[in-house]
Amino acid sequence: MGTLWEGRLSGATTDALKALNDSLEIDKRLYREDILGSIAHVEMLVTVGLIEESDGALILDALKIAEEEISSGSFVFQAEDEDIHTALERRVTEIAGVAGARMHTGRSRNDQVVTDLRLWTLKSLDELALLVMSLQKSLIEQAKKAGETRLPGYTHLQQAQPVLLSHHLLAHAWALSRDFERIIETRSRTDVSPLGAGALAGSSLPIDPLMTSESLGFSETFKNSLDAVSDRDFVAEAIFVNALLGVHLSRIGEELVLWSSEEFGFVDIDDEYTTGSSMLPQKKNPDVAELARAKTGRIIGNLAGFLTVLKGLPLTYNKDLQEDKEPLFDSFDTNSLVLTALTGMLNSITFNEEKMSAAADKPFSMAIDLAEYLVHKGMPFREAHALIGGLVKTSIDDKKDFEKLVLENDNFGPEIEDFFKPEMAIRRRITPGSTGLEAVEVQKELIEKRLETQTSMISR
Ligand code: ARG
Repeated sequence: MGTLWEGRLSGATTDALKALNDSLEIDKRLYREDILGSIAHVEMLVTVGLIEESDGALILDALKIAEEEISSGSFVFQAEDEDIHTALERRVTEIAGVAGARMHTGRSRNDQVVTDLRLWTLKSLDELALLVMSLQKSLIEQAKKAGETRLPGYTHLQQAQPVLLSHHLLAHAWALSRDFERIIETRSRTDVSPLGAGALAGSSLPIDPLMTSESLGFSETFKNSLDAVSDRDFVAEAIFVNALLGVHLSRIGEELVLWSSEEFGFVDIDDEYTTGSSMLPQKKNPDVAELARAKTGRIIGNLAGFLTVLKGLPLTYNKDLQEDKEPLFDSFDTNSLVLTALTGMLNSITFNEEKMSAAADKPFSMAIDLAEYLVHKGMPFREAHALIGGLVKTSIDDKKDFEKLVLENDNFGPEIEDFFKPEMAIRRRITPGSTGLEAVEVQKELIEKRLETQTSMISR
């Protein structure tokens, strides 16, 4: 078989065009989706009477053989195979003979490729959703085990107030819940069949796009053939979902890098998830956390790169769109690697409770509680803030013990001693969604419920 367009064009293409134009190495991994699409298409062609049942059967058998060949590694790709679609059509024609030449009736690679890509993206979104849930579960498990362990809460990376470790871990789990929701929402916009749009304008043959859409399991069918072959919003969205998820993973990664440093010493990462140094014998490096931080860069690059490809493209299909696959595949591949490694690492991490509470239990961390004590007694907050600020300043400038300065101050009664008991800072937080013990218990229940809802959303 020559090129697909040998009827129209005479000369052979140059090597340079071939090297630039061929996409087989990238789109090979769509072979299953391509075969599924062809099966649905051929069955429809038989049903509407466009091809004989016997020809249909020959094509379906050939597709089955080709699939087995590819999955077992015995499929021989040829130099002329431009992409997975041409490779499969060539092979089907070799096996099924003339019948194979009928497979592409009423179809273009333009609607074929985007059908494949939508099917691939749907499957990949589902897999990603499961990986996100595994990391959430790991965070929730660790939060449950953390009990009343405290660590400093930070703003500006300056110690601000003590918070529960469970509260901190759950903060990341909530961010992942939003990632999960975005995956599901993107899924619904991806779940539209473009098959039957043809090259761009539909067909003069009585093909049935609804039938193929249904047999492929899509929830909807395209409404506008021009939009069907040129729309890659779902690709951009899927990359964005991965990019923002990657941003969340990078923030977890960065904290674990910090926390595992000698200076913080909040966590011990299991040896399985660290590497040593080739030169410095004492080193234990948090590579997984660092790569979780770093890999996001390429996904953000994929997003910016792909939006730039789309920008300004006239309707409908343009070869530019062939550039959709690499950034899409890479974004899913990258996050799958990171999610799997990060989840394993979190499952086996050890939190150093003593170091955490030692860092959290500093008299200055009680400053806001002392100000709020004065508010309880009727002092306007601004006045209270200034008064406590003054005591902090005196303590630092005159090198005096802060607790002593507070106890000596007339504005405070003897009950104030209780305020310097570290665990009390947590117990005094009574508002919903706060780091208070009760609030965090409620939060744990809420996120477990959220997980149940999430589970029901993917097992649909
Ligand atoms: N390999 C192409 C792609 O990925 C398939 C569609 C080709 N369509 C065309 N009109 N040349 O976009």
